[in-house]
Amino acid sequence: MKPVEVAENIYWVGAIDWDERDFHNFEIDRGATYNAYLILDDKIALVDTVKHKFYGEMMERIKKLIDPSQIDYIIANHVETDHSGSLADIKRVAKDAVVVCTKRGMEGISKHFNTNGWDFNVVKSGDELKLGKKTLMFLEMTMLHWPDSMATYVKEDELLLSNDAFGQHIASEERFDEEIGVEEAIRRAKIYYANILMPFGNLIIKKLKEIESLQIPIRMIAPSHGVIWRNPERIINAYKEWAEFKTEDKVVIVYDTMWHSTEKLARALADGAASAGAKVRMFHIRKDPWAAIMTEILDAKAIAVGSPTMHNTVFPPVAGFLAYMKGLKPKNKIGMAFGSYGWGGGAVKEINRVFEELKFEVVEPLQVRFRPTGEELEAAFNAGARLGEMVKG
Ligand SMILES: Cc1cc2nc3c(=O)[nH]c(=O)nc-3n(C[C@H](O)[C@H](O)[C@H](O)COP(=O)(O)O)c2cc1C
Ligand SMILES: [Fe+2]
Ligand SMILES: [Fe+2]
Repeated sequence: MKPVEVAENIYWVGAIDWDERDFHNFEIDRGATYNAYLILDDKIALVDTVKHKFYGEMMERIKKLIDPSQIDYIIANHVETDHSGSLADIKRVAKDAVVVCTKRGMEGISKHFNTNGWDFNVVKSGDELKLGKKTLMFLEMTMLHWPDSMATYVKEDELLLSNDAFGQHIASEERFDEEIGVEEAIRRAKIYYANILMPFGNLIIKKLKEIESLQIPIRMIAPSHGVIWRNPERIINAYKEWAEFKTEDKVVIVYDTMWHSTEKLARALADGAASAGAKVRMFHIRKDPWAAIMTEILDAKAIAVGSPTMHNTVFPPVAGFLAYMKGLKPKNKIGMAFGSYGWGGGAVKEINRVFEELKFEVVEPLQVRFRPTGEELEAAFNAGARLGEMVKG
């Protein structure tokens, strides 16, 4: 349980969650880390804490460096309990530590913990806190991804402690992007972005411009999950592309099925789209992780969603997925609904309703009664080919 030096007198003292696989329904195939950072100067600051379950692990790391009762400031960049979860416990040890957070941060923390007698320092963008040689500057990150979120910039080290922004879910012994491979770090950051930050693209574009206009050099970005970016320009550029919904010539086909008719349509659509030269990704709603599906949707031009009709509407797992997708608000997409029904139908109408709410360009849906015939499968292939041509054009 060793701390890891990130910059001179700045240490990672977080925790590694090796076996978590479900992060509030976001499937994390290789666990997660909760990153907390300890800054040693005339005054000592702990930036963020860890999930409550890992309080002991964080304390072991802190104790290798200092007596935890010496902590002067606890910077709470974010109220969500994967970062604030150990706040009350550490406050019991570092009794006089001042909690530094935004106004909404203070409100949220007070709803999570009994904060009677706690000393808060409420900060806003541009406020500074001198620790000795080092100066912290705070940057509100409103709605990235909660109203209370903020980032902490260490001026002298040109280090941005960005909290959830730029994070990735992966449990690893490696602490830096190059150590797991920058490409792998970007790939994991994309999954994180697609499932946590996708709805906030416009705010991200604005925030990145604001950071640029501040002209603060950024040598490293240390998020609250995953590895630390020694190549900050790589992840900043990736965020720009994701926030703008830059697309590939790709059709994502997402479906579920009870008796395989909708599945036959999905396969014919996939063959058709591929025949037109489009990249195709196909997912089964109950078998594939939704986090992986949303990651492919982020930069796809077209999405085809298929469902059988059950009790006049979509199959319930498809309804769940549609609710998840709707919340993440993918933009600038072509949408195609398809499915098999037995009598009155209803699934395709419901899928189209969601596409319309998301302002997708909705194309002619594809519906068949019970099992698709050879002719109907050919029609599905042709519909897939048209979709493929649309994304290529
Ligand atoms: C429990 C259940 C409820 C159904 N409800 C409807 C319905 O309300 N309207 C309809 O048109 N078909 C309904 N169907 C028929 C299916 O939509 C039909 O069998 C379809 O071909 C299934 O497609 P799949 O093979 O992709 O699962 C229902 C089927 C089941 C098993
Ligand atoms: Fe969060
Ligand atoms: Fe988080």
